[in-house]
Amino acid sequence: MSDVTPTGVAFADGAYMPVEQLTVSALDYGFTRSDVTYDVVHVWNGRFFRLEHHLDRFAASMATLRMDPGHDRDGLRAILMECVRRTGLREAYVAMVCTRGRPPPGVRDIRQCRNRFMAYAIPFVWIANEEKQRTGLSAMIASRPRIPAASVDPTVKNYHWLDMECALFEAYDVGADTVILPSIEGTITEGPGFNVFAVRDGVVLTPDSGVLEGITRGAVIDLCRREGMPIEVRPVTVEALRDADEIFATSTAGGVMPVTRIDGRILGNGAPGALTSRIRELYWAWHHNPGETTPVDYD
Ligand SMILES: Cc1ncc(COP(=O)(O)O)c(C=O)c1O
Repeated sequence: MSDVTPTGVAFADGAYMPVEQLTVSALDYGFTRSDVTYDVVHVWNGRFFRLEHHLDRFAASMATLRMDPGHDRDGLRAILMECVRRTGLREAYVAMVCTRGRPPPGVRDIRQCRNRFMAYAIPFVWIANEEKQRTGLSAMIASRPRIPAASVDPTVKNYHWLDMECALFEAYDVGADTVILPSIEGTITEGPGFNVFAVRDGVVLTPDSGVLEGITRGAVIDLCRREGMPIEVRPVTVEALRDADEIFATSTAGGVMPVTRIDGRILGNGAPGALTSRIRELYWAWHHNPGETTPVDYD
């Protein structure tokens, strides 16, 4: 393979380019109104993990927002493959984005916008660095609630992140690594880029609604069921999370990440819990499973 661009390759408007050349117009409604949806899949050991799940979710998000990326499913898959191939990366973070685009000059009608699709592959991104994966993250529960699901549907992957960004500052101000947002009803939702799981009395719990249906979350639910680990997908109160025996976060950008401190309380003996560690191991083992992965053709 020649001419690889390991820092990242993007696709937009029918052409591939070094990722640094990917731009969005300041007039695109994706920028001015957050009228955009996206998805992120990862490549590990040269294989996409659960690629078809990501393509399903991206299609559903675009359908809800009445967007058309201008490529069918096979076309999208081929573009993602080609972005990765051109980077030569064996471990990559691969994003697909569709913005509302711009209306014709002088017009302000979202129905007349030409939607704009872009994609890029860059080196794998970790929410928690290697040391934090080993020792666990310290999280706080924000006082600021997540945007209500009735206002902005969290199952449509979106860039409405101001609630999470402001909550992150709350966490940084008290020395925590990250933050988990409650709903206005007092149940747990999610955090900036991750879903949340708690373990109480040997049962794994994760919220059933008000969250992005994370692909990593789905993989953890599936692997718990396949391994016979008790799991319940149901509302989790703030109090239940504060009292949990173990907590972990899940994301494409980092997998299963232990949380060992919540609102300053040390969980267990301060090390990642036994069930969390087992689930994390199984999650990464699944990356060698041909049924869960799609190889990248690098030739
Ligand atoms: C708000 C939010 N929740 C959860 C997740 C985790 O989803 P996934 O496992 O599909 O990466 C993400 C990922 O970016 C996210 O942005």
